[in-house]
Amino acid sequence: MAHLITLIPGDGIGPEVAAATVRAVEATGAAVEWEQVEAGAKALLDYGQLLPDEVFASLEVTRVGLKGPTATPIGGGHASINVALRKKLGLYTNFRPVRMLPGLKTRFRDLPLDMAIFRENTEDLYAGLEHEVVPGVVESLKIITQKASLRIARAAFEYARRYRRKKVTAIHKANIMKLSDGLFLKCCREVAAQFPEIVYNELIVDNACMQLVIRPETFDVLVLPNLYGDIVSDLAAGLVGGLGIVPGANIGDHHAVFEAVHGTAPDIAGKGLANPTALMQSAVLLLAHIGEPEASARLQAAIAKVYADGAHLTGDVGGKSSTTGFTDAVIAAIA
Ligand code: NAI
Repeated sequence: MAHLITLIPGDGIGPEVAAATVRAVEATGAAVEWEQVEAGAKALLDYGQLLPDEVFASLEVTRVGLKGPTATPIGGGHASINVALRKKLGLYTNFRPVRMLPGLKTRFRDLPLDMAIFRENTEDLYAGLEHEVVPGVVESLKIITQKASLRIARAAFEYARRYRRKKVTAIHKANIMKLSDGLFLKCCREVAAQFPEIVYNELIVDNACMQLVIRPETFDVLVLPNLYGDIVSDLAAGLVGGLGIVPGANIGDHHAVFEAVHGTAPDIAGKGLANPTALMQSAVLLLAHIGEPEASARLQAAIAKVYADGAHLTGDVGGKSSTTGFTDAVIAAIA
């Protein structure tokens, strides 16, 4: 039976990279069917809602989504779509694998980079609890709970065990935020004790950023609270060619939404120039998640082959191809 997947193309370049990714996934031969729903600026125009109820209705049935970038109007009281999806569906793990694609011309291209980043996705300063104490003084609450810290630590260690990774590094600022980051570390240590075969270490976030630039090849699995995770995962993406490349997954106990981490790229939207690699690599994770490991490996290998060959890359990574030209090359490599 075909796997039913919720497809949210999104705004800007979203529909272009989503269409490219759908073609590539179908070329793998995986038995998938798509249920397309709208979210973002287009949904606001068409339905009066940024995140219409039918998105949740669809995900309630399919449990798995593939999402393109969506535009959230700045100001005007609109909650971020991504934050709303994560909170409502309990997608507490943000997972970002960071690997070097062959042939890509980045400063770090000769290093064997292979990191798996686990960012807590539901709390910390992203709880959105801000208020004005007195005029000229605002307060933003950093929420760290034992429950959320334990489950993100478990997600990181379980991944490390399943994929035979050697080391998990917890990143923190507990020297300053002794209670909040202190609790996060305490939870990581508690979980680490249950995985004696995996090396566990801790780094203060500022030092971690420096080490990531100086010797990124020494990092393996990383686990971080929400804010540091947001910043450090983009830093890591920069090491392997940027946000147009790296995939992302938001995973909870019952649902998972796979998405590129770049935005809607309004400067190139509609021009056929967008690089669909990030969403295609997110689909690689999706295929593995739904139990299609062969299709997942086939798509990953095809993307790697097109990069190694280098003749059909898009402009953002130094090539001259269109979105369609790159996608055709990936499909040819699958065949
Ligand atoms: P952006 O990621 O859209 O663009 C930054 C730069 O990267 C631009 O020059 C763009 O052309 C380029 N770029 C991004 N993705 C690319 C791709 N796949 N291929 C080729 N070039 C690519 O970031 P920006 O400009 O800060 O945000 C634009 C809009 O996107 C905003 O409305 C923002 O709210 C939204 N956004 C949505 C996200 C999501 O839904 N996950 C994440 C980040 C931003």
